[in-house]
Amino acid sequence: MIELKTPGEIDAVAAAGHVVASILATLRGKAAPGVTPHDLDLIARDMIADAGAVSSFVGYHPSWSPTPYPAVICSSVNDAVVHGIPDRTPLAPGDLLSVDFAVHLDGWCADAAFSVVVGDTPDPRDLALVDATERALHAGIAASRPGARLGDIGHAIVGVARPAGYGMLADHGGHGVGRTMHEAPFVPNEGRAGKGLKLRPGLVIAIEPMLLLGGRDDYFHDADGWTLRTADGSRAAHVEHTIAVTADGPRILTAL
Ligand code: MF3
Ligand code: CO
Repeated sequence: MIELKTPGEIDAVAAAGHVVASILATLRGKAAPGVTPHDLDLIARDMIADAGAVSSFVGYHPSWSPTPYPAVICSSVNDAVVHGIPDRTPLAPGDLLSVDFAVHLDGWCADAAFSVVVGDTPDPRDLALVDATERALHAGIAASRPGARLGDIGHAIVGVARPAGYGMLADHGGHGVGRTMHEAPFVPNEGRAGKGLKLRPGLVIAIEPMLLLGGRDDYFHDADGWTLRTADGSRAAHVEHTIAVTADGPRILTAL
């Protein structure tokens, strides 16, 4: 079942989204050579508590994972695409870091992610990858208008990613969000224009393109049971916003 949210409920998701956005902005500012993903996780833990929110990640245990998720952020470095578990390996200059993060506030959930190249000597290919992933996200958001179809979102994303030669994960994409982190519908990152569910005001979804620099679509699960890595070892970027379809067009709920 796909639940449409009322304007008041959308405002409640936006309040959670504001917490997510401000914590992600802090983590982006802290991400630098020498800092560990575990350090970032601890910062996020403190900020969640200060905001009176609750992590949506800790203890999350979908059927495909062997263990409950142990942290409040996902930190995916270089060839890790998504769902990396924060570890104590210091970030090195030029590392490509993606941070994914969600909280519940007053019972409502918002989910977002950013990618950044740490340090002062980024590889231009990594910057181009991150830029394309952000453009793909915003193309998907722009397509999220009432009367459009779910396939229009994936069509917009793939229209940025494929011409630039990037790979994508076929079976991973966005999702409904609000009461829980993952609700119907699944929001594929590759879609056909004019196909699929009609988008109506009140639909709240997370849109999250993942682009792979090597141009292949293959990935594997790391031995930790969570981290998805590119099969060819190339780098990946992942960005995400929670948005609402409204009569006035898409509204980003995880913006500052
Ligand atoms: N935000 C992530 C997504 O939508 C979910 C991470 S699951 C976790 O894919 F357990 F790793 F937190
Ligand atoms: Co998500």
